[in-house]
Amino acid sequence: MGSIVQVTDLVKRFGDFTAVDGVSFSIEEGEVFGLLGPNGAGKTTTISTISCLLSPDGGDVVVSGHSVHGATMAVKRELGVVPQEIALYPTLSAGENLAFWGRMYGLSGAALKSAVNEALVLAGLEDRSKERVEKYSGGMKRRINIAAGVLHHPKVLLMDEPTVGIDPQSRNHILQTVKDLNASGMTVLYTSHYMEEVEFLCDRIAIMDHGKIIAMGTLNELREVVGGMDVVDVKVESVSDSVLECVRAIPGVKQVDRTDSALQVLTPGSGAVLGKLVATLESEGSHVTSITVTEPNLESVFLHLTGKSLRD
Ligand SMILES: Nc1ncnc2c1ncn2[C@@H]1O[C@H](COP(=O)(O)OP(=O)(O)OP(=O)(O)O)[C@@H](O)[C@H]1O
Ligand SMILES: [Mg+2]
Repeated sequence: MGSIVQVTDLVKRFGDFTAVDGVSFSIEEGEVFGLLGPNGAGKTTTISTISCLLSPDGGDVVVSGHSVHGATMAVKRELGVVPQEIALYPTLSAGENLAFWGRMYGLSGAALKSAVNEALVLAGLEDRSKERVEKYSGGMKRRINIAAGVLHHPKVLLMDEPTVGIDPQSRNHILQTVKDLNASGMTVLYTSHYMEEVEFLCDRIAIMDHGKIIAMGTLNELREVVGGMDVVDVKVESVSDSVLECVRAIPGVKQVDRTDSALQVLTPGSGAVLGKLVATLESEGSHVTSITVTEPNLESVFLHLTGKSLRD
């Protein structure tokens, strides 16, 4: 299988500001490719240039052999897009919204009807298809939004943070939908700042920050970036700057990051530092409420590469 999406040296500027700064990656046919990054990393801008909503200031995007420079209609035909902002008419029902999108994709008659029914099943909302969308929960709207993106059976589905701000049930439904669509042969570009989702769904992952890709690979390849270190998560009642300095000075501690009431410590061997770590925190007045040791995850990879948390 070859690559179905090829992004090469992509640059996008807004005035003097460079939102996407020389990004290159390729997505193989049939894979779920993850684009993980914090707010403002450039994920939506990247997706918008792939879907021809924005034109690049440098570089190229090629989808199924068609370049966004010129062949925009051909590129759009290959793509389904699930935008970050929900794109539904609130006063129309789910069925009517889907029919609207179906017509936009050139479907009509029996083909349109069957595509709409199929999409309602995919969204798990067959029995509520006649209700106005404005009465739906945020999660239900998102599910319809996704169904609208795949009505026309695109080869490649671009999903921009499809689970932000929704209930756990809808979130699980959406994650399972992505798995099912992929199992049916659809290639997916999945954008998120939730590392758990990207870890769960994606064959390969690009981590993006400040308009650049800072690491790319399978989950296991990315874990190697942290290079066999343990991640020690310590929950504490309070953390002061002086405590942080004392923890950084413990032999064997490679990196320390602070969130609200927690510390994350990277160390080549947790066994050698745990005792000292707890003793240091307690003696500095930071009472430890829990401590866990885990393998590196994408959060620790991001932390290791940027010195900041994905959720900042
Ligand atoms: N139309 C625009 N005009 C000016 N600046 C923009 C525009 N669109 C995006 N930006 C800026 O470009 C940067 C990247 O934005 P983008 O929306 O691509 O980030 P993102 O990774 O999708 O973030 P989020 O997780 O918050 O959705 C941000 O600093 C943003 O403010
Ligand atoms: Mg975005």
